[in-house]
Amino acid sequence: MMGPGDQPGDQPGDQPGDQPGDHSVADGRAGAIAGARAAALRRPPRMALQDVPMAVPFDRLPDYQDMERMQRAAAMIGVQNPFFRVHDGLAAARSQIAGREVMNFASYDYCGLNADPRVAEAAKAAIDAYGTSPSGSRLVAGCRPIHEALETALAQHYGAAAALTFVSGHSTNVSTIGHLMGEGDLILYDALCHNSIQVGMKLSGAARRAFAHNDMAALEALLIENRGRYRHALIATEGLFSMDGDVPPLAALIGLKRRFGCWLMVDEAHALGCVGAGGVGSFAVEGIDRGEVDVWMGTLSKTLAATGGYIAGSSALIDLLRGHASGFVYSVALAPALAAAALMALQVLGREPERAARLQDNAALFLAEARAAGLDTGTSGPFGVVPVMVGDTLVAAKLSEQLLDRGVNVMPVMFPAVPMRAARLRFFLSALHSAEDIRVTVALTAEILRDLRQSGFGTAIPPALLGL
Ligand SMILES: Cc1ncc(COP(=O)(O)O)c(C=O)c1O
Repeated sequence: MMGPGDQPGDQPGDQPGDQPGDHSVADGRAGAIAGARAAALRRPPRMALQDVPMAVPFDRLPDYQDMERMQRAAAMIGVQNPFFRVHDGLAAARSQIAGREVMNFASYDYCGLNADPRVAEAAKAAIDAYGTSPSGSRLVAGCRPIHEALETALAQHYGAAAALTFVSGHSTNVSTIGHLMGEGDLILYDALCHNSIQVGMKLSGAARRAFAHNDMAALEALLIENRGRYRHALIATEGLFSMDGDVPPLAALIGLKRRFGCWLMVDEAHALGCVGAGGVGSFAVEGIDRGEVDVWMGTLSKTLAATGGYIAGSSALIDLLRGHASGFVYSVALAPALAAAALMALQVLGREPERAARLQDNAALFLAEARAAGLDTGTSGPFGVVPVMVGDTLVAAKLSEQLLDRGVNVMPVMFPAVPMRAARLRFFLSALHSAEDIRVTVALTAEILRDLRQSGFGTAIPPALLGL
Protein backbone atom coordinates (compact mmCIF):
# COMPACT_ATOMS: atom_id res chain seq x y z
CA MET A 1 0.00 0.00 0.00
CA MET A 2 2.01 2.92 -1.25
CA GLY A 3 1.34 6.62 -1.16
CA PRO A 4 1.65 9.10 -3.96
CA GLY A 5 5.26 10.16 -4.10
CA ASP A 6 6.47 7.07 -2.28
CA GLN A 7 9.79 5.98 -3.70
CA PRO A 8 11.20 2.79 -2.29
CA GLY A 9 14.82 3.24 -1.33
CA ASP A 10 14.50 7.01 -1.61
CA GLN A 11 13.90 7.89 1.97
CA PRO A 12 15.76 10.81 3.50
CA GLY A 13 19.24 10.13 4.72
CA ASP A 14 19.57 6.71 3.08
CA GLN A 15 22.89 7.31 1.51
CA PRO A 16 25.87 9.09 3.07
CA GLY A 17 29.14 7.43 2.34
CA ASP A 18 29.51 5.86 -1.04
CA GLN A 19 27.86 8.19 -3.47
CA PRO A 20 28.54 8.16 -7.16
CA GLY A 21 30.61 11.21 -7.87
CA ASP A 22 31.71 11.40 -4.26
CA HIS A 23 35.35 12.11 -4.92
CA SER A 24 37.58 15.16 -4.86
CA VAL A 25 38.06 17.40 -7.89
CA ALA A 26 41.59 18.27 -6.89
CA ASP A 27 42.64 15.37 -9.05
CA GLY A 28 39.64 15.66 -11.39
CA ARG A 29 40.75 13.38 -14.24
CA ALA A 30 42.27 10.71 -12.01
CA GLY A 31 39.13 10.87 -9.87
CA ALA A 32 36.90 10.43 -12.89
CA ILE A 33 38.88 7.39 -14.02
CA ALA A 34 38.72 5.90 -10.52
CA GLY A 35 34.98 6.59 -10.45
CA ALA A 36 34.46 4.88 -13.81
CA ARG A 37 36.48 1.88 -12.61
CA ALA A 38 34.43 1.66 -9.41
CA ALA A 39 31.22 1.84 -11.44
CA ALA A 40 32.46 -0.93 -13.74
CA LEU A 41 33.21 -3.10 -10.70
CA ARG A 42 29.65 -2.59 -9.42
CA ARG A 43 28.20 -3.72 -12.79
CA PRO A 44 27.29 -7.42 -13.08
CA PRO A 45 29.73 -9.39 -15.25
CA ARG A 46 29.02 -9.36 -18.97
CA MET A 47 26.98 -12.34 -20.21
CA ALA A 48 27.01 -14.03 -23.60
CA LEU A 49 23.94 -12.86 -25.49
CA GLN A 50 22.41 -16.36 -25.57
CA ASP A 51 22.57 -16.46 -21.75
CA VAL A 52 20.70 -13.20 -21.23
CA PRO A 53 17.46 -14.06 -19.37
CA MET A 54 13.97 -13.10 -20.55
CA ALA A 55 12.83 -9.63 -19.49
CA VAL A 56 11.36 -9.94 -16.00
CA PRO A 57 7.59 -9.28 -15.83
CA PHE A 58 6.93 -6.05 -13.93
CA ASP A 59 5.03 -7.86 -11.20
CA ARG A 60 8.25 -9.67 -10.25
CA LEU A 61 10.11 -6.46 -9.50
CA PRO A 62 10.90 -5.99 -5.79
CA ASP A 63 8.96 -2.72 -5.48
CA TYR A 64 5.86 -4.37 -6.90
CA GLN A 65 6.23 -7.32 -4.56
CA ASP A 66 6.64 -4.98 -1.57
CA MET A 67 3.38 -3.29 -2.53
CA GLU A 68 1.61 -6.62 -2.83
CA ARG A 69 2.93 -7.79 0.54
CA MET A 70 1.69 -4.62 2.19
CA GLN A 71 -1.70 -5.00 0.50
CA ARG A 72 -1.99 -8.60 1.73
CA ALA A 73 -1.13 -7.50 5.25
CA ALA A 74 -3.71 -4.70 5.06
CA ALA A 75 -6.38 -7.02 3.66
CA MET A 76 -5.70 -9.50 6.43
CA ILE A 77 -6.80 -7.03 9.07
CA GLY A 78 -9.42 -5.32 6.92
CA VAL A 79 -7.65 -2.04 6.04
CA GLN A 80 -8.66 -0.48 2.73
CA ASN A 81 -6.22 1.39 0.50
CA PRO A 82 -6.52 5.00 1.71
CA PHE A 83 -5.03 6.51 -1.46
CA PHE A 84 -6.65 7.67 -4.69
CA ARG A 85 -9.90 8.65 -2.99
CA VAL A 86 -12.01 10.46 -5.56
CA HIS A 87 -13.37 13.90 -4.62
CA ASP A 88 -16.57 14.55 -6.54
CA GLY A 89 -16.14 18.33 -6.75
CA LEU A 90 -14.12 21.15 -5.23
CA ALA A 91 -11.81 19.92 -2.48
CA ALA A 92 -11.54 22.74 0.06
CA ALA A 93 -12.26 22.77 3.81
CA ARG A 94 -15.21 20.55 2.93
CA SER A 95 -15.37 18.04 0.11
CA GLN A 96 -17.70 15.43 -1.39
CA ILE A 97 -16.39 11.87 -1.39
CA ALA A 98 -18.58 9.00 -2.60
CA GLY A 99 -21.56 11.33 -2.63
CA ARG A 100 -21.11 12.39 1.01
CA GLU A 101 -19.91 15.72 2.43
CA VAL A 102 -16.83 15.39 4.63
CA MET A 103 -14.55 17.77 6.50
CA ASN A 104 -11.40 17.83 4.41
CA PHE A 105 -7.86 18.04 5.81
CA ALA A 106 -6.14 16.43 2.84
CA SER A 107 -5.95 19.25 0.28
CA TYR A 108 -3.62 22.22 -0.08
CA ASP A 109 -5.94 25.16 0.21
CA TYR A 110 -4.08 26.96 2.93
CA CYS A 111 -5.50 30.42 2.33
CA GLY A 112 -8.81 29.39 0.79
CA LEU A 113 -7.98 30.68 -2.69
CA ASN A 114 -8.80 27.60 -4.72
CA ALA A 115 -12.46 28.58 -5.08
CA ASP A 116 -11.92 32.33 -5.01
CA PRO A 117 -14.01 33.87 -7.82
CA ARG A 118 -11.26 36.36 -8.69
CA VAL A 119 -8.77 33.53 -9.20
CA ALA A 120 -11.25 31.56 -11.31
CA GLU A 121 -12.09 34.65 -13.39
CA ALA A 122 -8.42 35.35 -14.07
CA ALA A 123 -7.94 31.77 -15.26
CA LYS A 124 -11.02 31.93 -17.50
CA ALA A 125 -9.92 35.23 -19.01
CA ALA A 126 -6.51 33.71 -19.79
CA ILE A 127 -8.16 30.77 -21.54
CA ASP A 128 -10.23 33.20 -23.60
CA ALA A 129 -7.13 35.19 -24.49
CA TYR A 130 -4.56 32.43 -24.99
CA GLY A 131 -6.39 29.07 -25.23
CA THR A 132 -5.89 26.14 -22.89
CA SER A 133 -2.36 25.21 -23.93
CA PRO A 134 0.72 27.36 -24.48
CA SER A 135 1.43 25.00 -27.39
CA GLY A 136 5.16 24.96 -26.98
CA SER A 137 8.20 25.35 -24.79
CA ARG A 138 8.92 28.91 -23.71
CA LEU A 139 11.94 28.90 -26.02
CA VAL A 140 9.86 28.36 -29.10
CA ALA A 141 6.15 29.25 -29.12
CA GLY A 142 5.22 29.13 -25.43
CA CYS A 143 5.81 32.69 -24.11
CA ARG A 144 2.73 34.73 -23.20
CA PRO A 145 2.61 38.07 -21.38
CA ILE A 146 1.01 36.36 -18.38
CA HIS A 147 4.19 34.32 -17.77
CA GLU A 148 6.26 37.45 -17.57
CA ALA A 149 3.71 39.17 -15.32
CA LEU A 150 3.75 36.22 -12.91
CA GLU A 151 7.54 35.98 -12.91
CA THR A 152 7.88 39.70 -12.21
CA ALA A 153 5.48 39.40 -9.27
CA LEU A 154 7.30 36.36 -7.88
CA ALA A 155 10.68 38.07 -8.20
CA GLN A 156 9.30 41.08 -6.33
CA HIS A 157 7.94 38.84 -3.61
CA TYR A 158 11.42 37.51 -2.91
CA GLY A 159 13.18 40.82 -3.45
CA ALA A 160 15.00 39.04 -6.28
CA ALA A 161 16.18 40.27 -9.65
CA ALA A 162 14.26 37.64 -11.61
CA ALA A 163 12.12 34.51 -11.46
CA LEU A 164 11.28 31.60 -13.74
CA THR A 165 8.23 29.33 -13.79
CA PHE A 166 8.11 25.63 -14.62
CA VAL A 167 5.20 23.27 -15.35
CA SER A 168 5.54 21.42 -12.07
CA GLY A 169 6.98 22.05 -8.64
CA HIS A 170 8.60 18.63 -8.61
CA SER A 171 10.34 19.21 -11.93
CA THR A 172 11.43 22.67 -10.76
CA ASN A 173 13.54 21.08 -8.04
CA VAL A 174 14.72 18.20 -10.19
CA SER A 175 15.77 20.42 -13.10
CA THR A 176 17.25 23.22 -11.03
CA ILE A 177 19.35 21.11 -8.71
CA GLY A 178 20.06 18.63 -11.48
CA HIS A 179 21.48 21.36 -13.65
CA LEU A 180 23.12 23.67 -11.13
CA MET A 181 25.13 20.97 -9.41
CA GLY A 182 27.37 18.35 -10.94
CA GLU A 183 30.15 15.90 -10.36
CA GLY A 184 32.78 17.33 -8.04
CA ASP A 185 30.14 19.38 -6.20
CA LEU A 186 28.59 18.80 -2.81
CA ILE A 187 24.96 19.04 -1.69
CA LEU A 188 24.15 19.19 2.00
CA TYR A 189 20.48 18.74 2.68
CA ASP A 190 18.15 18.47 5.59
CA ALA A 191 17.32 14.79 6.09
CA LEU A 192 13.61 15.60 5.81
CA CYS A 193 13.82 17.37 2.45
CA HIS A 194 11.20 16.50 -0.15
CA ASN A 195 11.61 13.75 -2.71
CA SER A 196 11.93 16.29 -5.56
CA ILE A 197 15.06 17.76 -3.94
CA GLN A 198 16.50 14.30 -3.51
CA VAL A 199 15.75 13.24 -7.07
CA GLY A 200 17.39 16.44 -8.36
CA MET A 201 20.46 15.72 -6.26
CA LYS A 202 20.76 12.21 -7.67
CA LEU A 203 20.36 13.48 -11.20
CA SER A 204 23.09 16.05 -10.66
CA GLY A 205 25.78 13.46 -9.87
CA ALA A 206 27.03 15.66 -7.00
CA ALA A 207 28.08 14.13 -3.68
CA ARG A 208 25.26 14.24 -1.15
CA ARG A 209 25.27 14.46 2.61
CA ALA A 210 22.13 14.61 4.77
CA PHE A 211 22.23 16.52 8.05
CA ALA A 212 19.83 15.62 10.86
CA HIS A 213 16.67 17.68 10.67
CA ASN A 214 17.35 21.33 11.52
CA ASP A 215 20.55 20.33 13.32
CA MET A 216 23.04 23.12 12.67
CA ALA A 217 25.82 21.47 14.66
CA ALA A 218 25.51 18.40 12.42
CA LEU A 219 25.59 20.58 9.31
CA GLU A 220 28.63 22.46 10.55
CA ALA A 221 30.44 19.19 11.26
CA LEU A 222 29.68 17.96 7.73
CA LEU A 223 30.94 21.23 6.27
CA ILE A 224 34.16 21.10 8.25
CA GLU A 225 34.71 17.53 7.16
CA ASN A 226 33.72 17.81 3.51
CA ARG A 227 33.57 21.35 2.15
CA GLY A 228 37.24 21.59 1.20
CA ARG A 229 37.03 18.54 -1.07
CA TYR A 230 34.48 19.96 -3.46
CA ARG A 231 34.08 22.77 -5.96
CA HIS A 232 30.59 24.21 -5.45
CA ALA A 233 28.43 23.43 -2.44
CA LEU A 234 24.69 23.82 -2.02
CA ILE A 235 22.74 23.67 1.23
CA ALA A 236 19.11 22.71 0.65
CA THR A 237 16.25 23.06 3.09
CA GLU A 238 12.51 23.73 3.19
CA GLY A 239 10.81 26.89 4.43
CA LEU A 240 8.05 24.80 6.00
CA PHE A 241 8.71 21.09 6.22
CA SER A 242 6.03 19.24 4.31
CA MET A 243 5.80 16.17 6.52
CA ASP A 244 6.62 17.68 9.90
CA GLY A 245 5.18 21.19 9.77
CA ASP A 246 8.15 23.01 11.29
CA VAL A 247 10.47 25.74 9.97
CA PRO A 248 14.26 25.86 9.50
CA PRO A 249 16.69 28.09 11.42
CA LEU A 250 17.31 30.32 8.41
CA ALA A 251 19.59 32.85 10.12
CA ALA A 252 21.91 30.05 11.26
CA LEU A 253 21.84 28.48 7.79
CA ILE A 254 22.82 31.80 6.28
CA GLY A 255 25.69 32.09 8.76
CA LEU A 256 26.99 28.67 7.75
CA LYS A 257 26.56 29.19 4.03
CA ARG A 258 28.56 32.41 4.26
CA ARG A 259 31.27 30.90 6.42
CA PHE A 260 31.77 27.88 4.19
CA GLY A 261 31.20 29.44 0.78
CA CYS A 262 27.99 27.62 -0.14
CA TRP A 263 24.81 28.47 -1.97
CA LEU A 264 21.60 28.25 0.03
CA MET A 265 18.38 26.95 -1.53
CA VAL A 266 15.05 27.19 0.30
CA ASP A 267 11.97 25.33 -0.94
CA GLU A 268 8.94 27.46 -0.06
CA ALA A 269 6.36 25.01 -1.44
CA HIS A 270 4.43 24.98 1.84
CA ALA A 271 5.83 28.12 3.45
CA LEU A 272 4.16 30.55 1.06
CA GLY A 273 0.76 31.34 2.53
CA CYS A 274 1.49 29.57 5.83
CA VAL A 275 4.56 31.16 7.42
CA GLY A 276 5.10 34.72 8.60
CA ALA A 277 2.70 37.65 8.83
CA GLY A 278 0.48 37.60 5.74
CA GLY A 279 1.92 34.20 4.79
CA VAL A 280 4.83 35.82 2.95
CA GLY A 281 7.09 32.88 3.69
CA SER A 282 9.94 31.63 5.81
CA PHE A 283 12.06 34.77 5.46
CA ALA A 284 9.66 36.58 7.79
CA VAL A 285 10.26 34.30 10.78
CA GLU A 286 13.68 35.67 11.71
CA GLY A 287 13.49 38.75 9.52
CA ILE A 288 16.37 37.65 7.33
CA ASP A 289 17.53 39.56 4.28
CA ARG A 290 15.87 37.73 1.35
CA GLY A 291 18.97 38.34 -0.77
CA GLU A 292 20.94 35.98 1.48
CA VAL A 293 19.10 33.01 -0.01
CA ASP A 294 20.67 32.22 -3.36
CA VAL A 295 17.87 30.06 -4.72
CA TRP A 296 14.26 30.58 -3.67
CA MET A 297 12.08 27.76 -4.90
CA GLY A 298 8.32 27.39 -4.61
CA THR A 299 5.25 25.75 -6.04
CA LEU A 300 2.11 27.24 -7.52
CA SER A 301 0.12 24.18 -6.48
CA LYS A 302 -0.53 24.99 -2.85
CA THR A 303 -1.43 28.49 -1.65
CA LEU A 304 -1.42 29.84 -5.21
CA ALA A 305 -4.30 27.60 -6.32
CA ALA A 306 -2.71 26.44 -9.58
CA THR A 307 -0.02 23.94 -10.54
CA GLY A 308 3.60 24.58 -11.47
CA GLY A 309 6.77 25.72 -9.77
CA TYR A 310 9.19 28.62 -9.71
CA ILE A 311 12.71 29.73 -8.91
CA ALA A 312 13.58 33.28 -7.86
CA GLY A 313 17.12 34.61 -7.57
CA SER A 314 19.79 36.60 -9.37
CA SER A 315 19.51 37.44 -13.09
CA ALA A 316 22.45 35.15 -13.81
CA LEU A 317 20.80 32.22 -12.03
CA ILE A 318 17.54 32.72 -13.91
CA ASP A 319 19.33 33.18 -17.26
CA LEU A 320 21.25 29.99 -16.61
CA LEU A 321 18.11 27.99 -15.88
CA ARG A 322 16.23 29.60 -18.76
CA GLY A 323 18.95 28.45 -21.12
CA HIS A 324 19.80 25.05 -19.64
CA ALA A 325 17.38 23.57 -17.08
CA SER A 326 15.97 20.55 -18.88
CA GLY A 327 12.52 20.73 -17.27
CA PHE A 328 12.24 24.28 -18.61
CA VAL A 329 13.97 24.10 -21.97
CA TYR A 330 12.57 20.74 -23.06
CA SER A 331 9.14 21.00 -21.49
CA VAL A 332 6.06 22.98 -22.39
CA ALA A 333 5.39 26.38 -20.80
CA LEU A 334 3.10 26.71 -17.82
CA ALA A 335 -0.52 26.75 -19.07
CA PRO A 336 -1.60 30.42 -19.32
CA ALA A 337 -4.71 29.80 -17.20
CA LEU A 338 -2.55 28.44 -14.39
CA ALA A 339 -0.14 31.36 -14.62
CA ALA A 340 -3.09 33.76 -14.44
CA ALA A 341 -4.65 31.93 -11.48
CA ALA A 342 -1.34 31.92 -9.60
CA LEU A 343 -0.74 35.61 -10.27
CA MET A 344 -4.20 36.57 -9.03
CA ALA A 345 -3.80 34.33 -5.97
CA LEU A 346 -0.45 35.96 -5.15
CA GLN A 347 -2.01 39.42 -5.47
CA VAL A 348 -4.99 38.49 -3.27
CA LEU A 349 -2.61 36.97 -0.70
CA GLY A 350 -0.74 40.28 -0.54
CA ARG A 351 -3.92 42.38 -0.29
CA GLU A 352 -5.68 40.15 2.27
CA PRO A 353 -3.16 39.21 4.96
CA GLU A 354 -6.05 38.21 7.21
CA ARG A 355 -6.29 34.95 5.23
CA ALA A 356 -2.91 33.73 6.45
CA ALA A 357 -3.73 35.01 9.95
CA ARG A 358 -6.91 32.88 9.98
CA LEU A 359 -4.96 29.86 8.78
CA GLN A 360 -2.35 30.35 11.50
CA ASP A 361 -5.08 30.75 14.15
CA ASN A 362 -6.65 27.51 12.93
CA ALA A 363 -3.31 25.73 13.07
CA ALA A 364 -2.69 27.04 16.60
CA LEU A 365 -6.15 25.85 17.66
CA PHE A 366 -5.55 22.43 16.11
CA LEU A 367 -2.22 22.12 17.93
CA ALA A 368 -3.65 23.21 21.28
CA GLU A 369 -6.60 20.82 21.00
CA ALA A 370 -4.40 17.96 19.84
CA ARG A 371 -1.93 18.40 22.66
CA ALA A 372 -4.73 18.64 25.21
CA ALA A 373 -6.12 15.38 23.81
CA GLY A 374 -2.72 13.69 24.23
CA LEU A 375 -1.94 13.47 20.51
CA ASP A 376 1.69 13.68 19.41
CA THR A 377 2.10 16.50 16.87
CA GLY A 378 5.88 16.15 16.62
CA THR A 379 7.82 19.36 16.09
CA SER A 380 5.08 21.15 14.13
CA GLY A 381 4.32 24.81 14.66
CA PRO A 382 1.18 26.90 14.08
CA PHE A 383 1.39 27.03 10.29
CA GLY A 384 -0.53 24.91 7.78
CA VAL A 385 0.78 21.36 8.19
CA VAL A 386 0.22 19.41 11.40
CA PRO A 387 1.13 15.73 11.64
CA VAL A 388 -0.42 13.42 14.21
CA MET A 389 2.21 10.79 14.86
CA VAL A 390 0.96 7.24 14.86
CA GLY A 391 4.06 5.09 14.28
CA ASP A 392 2.58 1.94 12.79
CA THR A 393 1.69 2.11 9.09
CA LEU A 394 -1.44 -0.02 9.25
CA VAL A 395 -2.76 1.78 12.31
CA ALA A 396 -2.33 5.07 10.44
CA ALA A 397 -4.21 3.66 7.43
CA LYS A 398 -7.01 2.30 9.62
CA LEU A 399 -7.26 5.57 11.52
CA SER A 400 -7.63 7.43 8.23
CA GLU A 401 -10.31 4.97 7.09
CA GLN A 402 -12.32 5.21 10.31
CA LEU A 403 -12.08 9.00 10.30
CA LEU A 404 -13.53 9.01 6.79
CA ASP A 405 -16.39 6.82 8.04
CA ARG A 406 -17.02 9.48 10.69
CA GLY A 407 -16.89 12.36 8.16
CA VAL A 408 -13.24 13.49 8.19
CA ASN A 409 -10.91 13.11 5.22
CA VAL A 410 -7.20 13.07 6.11
CA MET A 411 -4.38 11.09 4.56
CA PRO A 412 -1.86 8.82 6.23
CA VAL A 413 1.81 9.25 5.33
CA MET A 414 4.04 6.24 5.67
CA PHE A 415 7.44 4.77 4.80
CA PRO A 416 9.26 5.54 2.58
CA ALA A 417 7.81 9.07 2.40
CA VAL A 418 8.69 9.29 6.13
CA PRO A 419 11.10 7.11 8.13
CA MET A 420 10.11 3.53 9.03
CA ARG A 421 7.71 3.36 12.01
CA ALA A 422 7.08 7.12 11.77
CA ALA A 423 3.71 6.82 10.01
CA ARG A 424 1.35 9.66 10.71
CA LEU A 425 -1.79 11.42 9.62
CA ARG A 426 -0.93 14.69 7.96
CA PHE A 427 -3.51 17.43 8.46
CA PHE A 428 -3.49 20.34 6.03
CA LEU A 429 -5.23 23.28 7.67
CA SER A 430 -7.07 25.97 5.75
CA ALA A 431 -8.20 29.50 6.53
CA LEU A 432 -11.67 28.18 5.65
CA HIS A 433 -11.89 25.54 8.39
CA SER A 434 -14.19 26.47 11.24
CA ALA A 435 -13.14 26.15 14.88
CA GLU A 436 -15.90 23.56 15.24
CA ASP A 437 -14.48 21.47 12.35
CA ILE A 438 -11.12 21.47 14.08
CA ARG A 439 -12.43 20.59 17.55
CA VAL A 440 -14.59 17.74 16.23
CA THR A 441 -11.75 16.41 14.07
CA VAL A 442 -9.19 16.39 16.87
CA ALA A 443 -11.62 14.74 19.30
CA LEU A 444 -12.48 12.01 16.76
CA THR A 445 -8.81 11.41 15.94
CA ALA A 446 -7.90 11.01 19.61
CA GLU A 447 -10.88 8.72 20.27
CA ILE A 448 -10.30 6.41 17.30
CA LEU A 449 -6.53 6.23 17.80
CA ARG A 450 -7.02 5.34 21.47
CA ASP A 451 -9.49 2.58 20.55
CA LEU A 452 -7.20 1.17 17.87
CA ARG A 453 -4.28 1.05 20.25
CA GLN A 454 -6.29 -0.43 23.09
CA SER A 455 -7.57 -3.18 20.81
CA GLY A 456 -3.99 -4.03 19.78
CA PHE A 457 -4.92 -3.37 16.17
CA GLY A 458 -2.43 -4.71 13.64
CA THR A 459 -0.43 -6.78 16.10
CA ALA A 460 -1.84 -10.06 14.72
CA ILE A 461 -0.02 -9.66 11.41
CA PRO A 462 2.89 -12.09 10.98
CA PRO A 463 6.04 -9.90 10.88
CA ALA A 464 7.21 -11.72 7.72
CA LEU A 465 4.20 -10.38 5.87
CA LEU A 466 5.33 -6.87 6.74
CA GLY A 467 8.83 -7.62 5.60
CA LEU A 468 10.22 -7.26 9.14
C1 LIG B 1 8.53 20.67 -0.26
C2 LIG B 1 7.97 20.34 -1.60
N1 LIG B 1 8.66 20.70 -2.70
C3 LIG B 1 8.20 20.42 -3.94
C4 LIG B 1 7.01 19.78 -4.12
C5 LIG B 1 6.53 19.48 -5.52
O1 LIG B 1 5.54 20.38 -5.88
P1 LIG B 1 4.33 20.02 -6.85
O2 LIG B 1 3.45 19.04 -6.13
O3 LIG B 1 3.68 21.34 -7.03
O4 LIG B 1 4.90 19.45 -8.09
C6 LIG B 1 6.25 19.41 -3.02
C7 LIG B 1 4.96 18.72 -3.21
O5 LIG B 1 4.16 18.54 -2.37
C8 LIG B 1 6.73 19.69 -1.72
O6 LIG B 1 6.06 19.34 -0.63
